[in-house]
Amino acid sequence: MLDEIRAGLSRSPKEIPPKYFYDHRGSELFERITELIEYYPTRTEREILEAWIPDRIPGLDVRALVELGAGSGEKTRVILDAMLAAHSPIVYVPIDVSAEFLKASAARLRVEYPGLKVLPIVADLADPLVLPRELPGPHLFAFLGSTIGNFRPKKAAALLGRIRAAMSSEDFFLLGVDLRKDVAVLEAAYNDAEGVTAEFNRNVLRVLNRTLGADFDLDAFRHRAVYHTGAHRIEMYLDSTREQNVTIPGIGVVRFRRDEPLRTEISCKYDRESVAALCSAAGLHLAEWKTDAKEWFALALAESRP
Ligand code: TRP
Repeated sequence: MLDEIRAGLSRSPKEIPPKYFYDHRGSELFERITELIEYYPTRTEREILEAWIPDRIPGLDVRALVELGAGSGEKTRVILDAMLAAHSPIVYVPIDVSAEFLKASAARLRVEYPGLKVLPIVADLADPLVLPRELPGPHLFAFLGSTIGNFRPKKAAALLGRIRAAMSSEDFFLLGVDLRKDVAVLEAAYNDAEGVTAEFNRNVLRVLNRTLGADFDLDAFRHRAVYHTGAHRIEMYLDSTREQNVTIPGIGVVRFRRDEPLRTEISCKYDRESVAALCSAAGLHLAEWKTDAKEWFALALAESRP
C-alpha cells in the first residue's frame, strides 16, 4: 500500500488508487451513492437485468456465478434468483476488496438462499484471478456497475484478459457499462446535491490517516468531478483548498499547492463499439448487448470463443 500511495503521489497530477475508497465506511457510503436520484447507473442496470436475465439465464445453463467487485450483491440477486430457478444448488463466488463488507453480505445471502453455496474471496482486482477448486460449471462471470470504467484502458484490457484466461468455452461473461451521454447528467451523477459523493471521495483521506497514520485535514480538500469529452471519462478530484503539507509516515512530507488537484478516480464511459474493442483486445467476443430505453447503461454478454 505504501509503495502504491508513494508512486501515486509522485505523479502529476497526484493520484490515489481508487480501491482505497472501500473500507467498511466507504463501502457503506458507496451503497448510499447507488440510491441517490442523480446516480442513475445502479437502478438502470438493475432495470436491464430484471428485463433480460430471468429469460436469458436458462439458455446459458450456468451452475456458478463469479462476480468481480461484488459490493453488497444487491443487484446480483436478480441473477441468483434466475440461476436458482433453473438449477439448485448453485455456487456464488463474490470477489471484493472490502473484507468486512463482503463477509456481511455473504452471511445475509446464505440465510436468504438455502440452495446457494457462497464462497467469498477477498482480493484486489489487479491481482491474478484465483477461483475455488472444483467449482461446478459452466460459469457465469459478472463484472457489473461499470467498475471496469475505473480502470485505465490498458489495465481494463488486462483485467478482462485475466477473466478470459479463467473461462472455458462454455462459460459466459456479463459486463455492465455506463454509456456516453449528456455531460450534465454524467457530472450530476458524480456530484450529488446532498454531498454523499463528496463525503465518499474525502473518505479515502480518512483511510490513509487511519491505515498509514497520515495527517490529511479532510476539511482542506474540496470534491470536484468533471467530464472529459475527448477521453470519454469522468475524473474525480480532491482539490487542496490551501497550500499545505501532509505527513505520511514511511513516505514523508507531501506538499500541496493551493487548488492543487489530487485525482482519486476515473470513470470511463462507453458505446457498443468501444466495448466490442475492449472485449476483443482481451480475446473475448461480444455476443449480446442490452440497454435501457434511454440508452444510458448497457449489459454486454461475451464468450471466450472467437
Ligand atoms: N464504478 C462506479 C462508477 O464509476 C464507482 C463510483 C461511483 C465512484 N461514484 C463514485 C467512485 C464516486 C468514486 C467516487 O460510477
